Amino acid sequence: MFKKVHTYLSSITPERSPIMREMEGYARENNFPIVGPLVGRLLYQLATLNGARTILELGSGFGYSAYWFSLATKGRGHITMTDGDRTNKRRAIDYFKRAGLQSHFDYRVGDALRIARRLRGPFDIVFNDIDKDGYPDTIDVAARLLRKGGLFVTDNLIWSGRVCDKKKDATTAAVDTFNRALYQDSRFFTTIMPVRDGVGVAIRQ
Ligand SMILES: C[S@@+](CC[C@H](N)C(=O)[O-])C[C@H]1O[C@@H](n2cnc3c(N)ncnc32)[C@H](O)[C@@H]1O
Repeated sequence: MFKKVHTYLSSITPERSPIMREMEGYARENNFPIVGPLVGRLLYQLATLNGARTILELGSGFGYSAYWFSLATKGRGHITMTDGDRTNKRRAIDYFKRAGLQSHFDYRVGDALRIARRLRGPFDIVFNDIDKDGYPDTIDVAARLLRKGGLFVTDNLIWSGRVCDKKKDATTAAVDTFNRALYQDSRFFTTIMPVRDGVGVAIRQ
């Protein structure tokens, strides 16, 4: 059922720019997980709705999600990107240059949580897409860095449906722990939406 809905929505989603399609092709060919166009469009809408200018990404990969944020900020954004893999930074910068994106991209290589703990806010959006075992530790980091009314957005919260299983492996348990903790956290008002692999949108109160 879930796959059928995803296939349907993907089939009617409008085409992207040539560079975005190239990035999607690279992800497909190399089995690299990106948010894809369904979630990318949601990121664009969320950033537009909250008038975002300052955005922090935890786990940027080669820049596909940041590309959507950059479109929403109409070139006036300051996007701090993080990733543990230096080759992703080179690839992202190459795509952004060729696409002529105008945002200010500050791409930092290293552990996303360690980098974020040293940053000063406030950010309008913190987007969370690191390895799932690290998810529970991102809540305090996002709460500190977001302005009031800012958005904490997290991908993969349904984790291919595995969060529903009774017996959970360690990674699934971390996603489940994160989901429950975020819903209960009075610093945020949260909804988890079943878009693609599940996207959490939490408003910093
Ligand atoms: C799912 S991909 C990100 C995709 C990107 N957000 C997009 O949709 O275009 C996750 C990325 O986070 C990086 N990553 C995972 N855990 C990390 C961590 N703790 N610190 C820094 N980078 C991390 C991986 O190297 C990988 O490139």
